[in-house]
Amino acid sequence: MPEIVEHISLVIGVLGVTVILWSVLLGVLRLVRLEWVSLGGRDTLVENEDLRHHLRLHARDGGHLHRQVSLDATTMRGGRKLRLFCREEQMTDRFSLKGRIALVTGASRGLGLAMAEALADHGARVVLNGRDPETLRSAAAKITNAEFAAFDVGDAKAGPAAIADIVNRHGKLDILINNAGIQHRRPLTEWEDGDFERILAANLTSCFRLAREAARVMVPRGHGRIINTGSIAGILARPTIHGYVAAKAGLHGLTRSMAAEIGRHGVTVNAVAPGFFATELNQALLADKEFTAWVERRTPAGRWAKPEEIGGAVIFLASDAASYVNGHVLSVDGGLSVSL
Ligand SMILES: NC(=O)c1ccc[n+]([C@@H]2O[C@H](COP(=O)([O-])OP(=O)(O)OC[C@H]3O[C@@H](n4cnc5c(N)ncnc54)[C@H](OP(=O)(O)O)[C@@H]3O)[C@@H](O)[C@H]2O)c1
Repeated sequence: MPEIVEHISLVIGVLGVTVILWSVLLGVLRLVRLEWVSLGGRDTLVENEDLRHHLRLHARDGGHLHRQVSLDATTMRGGRKLRLFCREEQMTDRFSLKGRIALVTGASRGLGLAMAEALADHGARVVLNGRDPETLRSAAAKITNAEFAAFDVGDAKAGPAAIADIVNRHGKLDILINNAGIQHRRPLTEWEDGDFERILAANLTSCFRLAREAARVMVPRGHGRIINTGSIAGILARPTIHGYVAAKAGLHGLTRSMAAEIGRHGVTVNAVAPGFFATELNQALLADKEFTAWVERRTPAGRWAKPEEIGGAVIFLASDAASYVNGHVLSVDGGLSVSL
């Protein structure tokens, strides 16, 4: 009997010491902020703050032909990943935008800024546009590989001049995102001719003009991507936003007519049709609790979208992965436009 007690005490003692040593080791690793990582079979210690960055760089390595890193993470105490087993393989990344030059209009905030960040994240050099140089300067400073060109998309001379300048400096323009847009809400009987024309000029005519200019550069090179920011309002109408609905429906049509003509030259023209995104454009709607609740009830996703949720669609349409997608209007609306 005493022998059994002695054995049990010994086992408990050994377990206790093991637990203490393990905790000390975890504590030390946490203290010196290191993670133990196995990359492609090679065990490496990586500073844990750099870990995500390190793996992303790894995944991007080589641009087009690059390594995919798939992770199998064992979550340890406190939800921290202690050991990552990585499998690397060579693959062609059809979503890479490395080396591409992109102009994104209306990119000082909101959806345009989120699109620019997504494109840059996938390797493109982005030119941010908006009307205010100071806002653009600080937005561009937060993105790796970004610059800006301040101009009003409604200015018939400034837009084409900005494209000419990009081509002069970079030798090409691969991607144009016609995203700048404005809104005007009034009962029909209170709409002035000038309001309607102003909304059409900013949301539709400007897209035609910039796309035409981009096509003049892209068609001779045999490659290009034009992406227009349409709207679910171009598919389904709402009261009070007459100019906007007309402009966005027109932009969906323009997307198709341009695609039909220049597709054979390796240039695709597509559109995204966002649903309800929480941006400055919708400030008045977001402040209205009743309307906000209606959006949540009406949208199958049950919520408003965050600006960054537009990124995936744009990367896809801008990339080689969408080489045979042309004239398409891709709804990014949480299912709103397909449900009653
Ligand atoms: N948010 C949504 O739920 C939603 C839904 C469907 C479609 N959309 C469309 O998505 C696009 C972006 O909307 P958002 O929500 O991101 O709007 P936002 O937050 O108001 O941003 C609009 C952007 O366009 C720029 N801009 C406006 N007029 C311009 C002009 N004449 N020339 C150059 N830049 C101009 C603004 O910068 P400056 O004011 O500094 O020039 C800003 O960068 C618009 O085309 C909009 O119609 C949005």
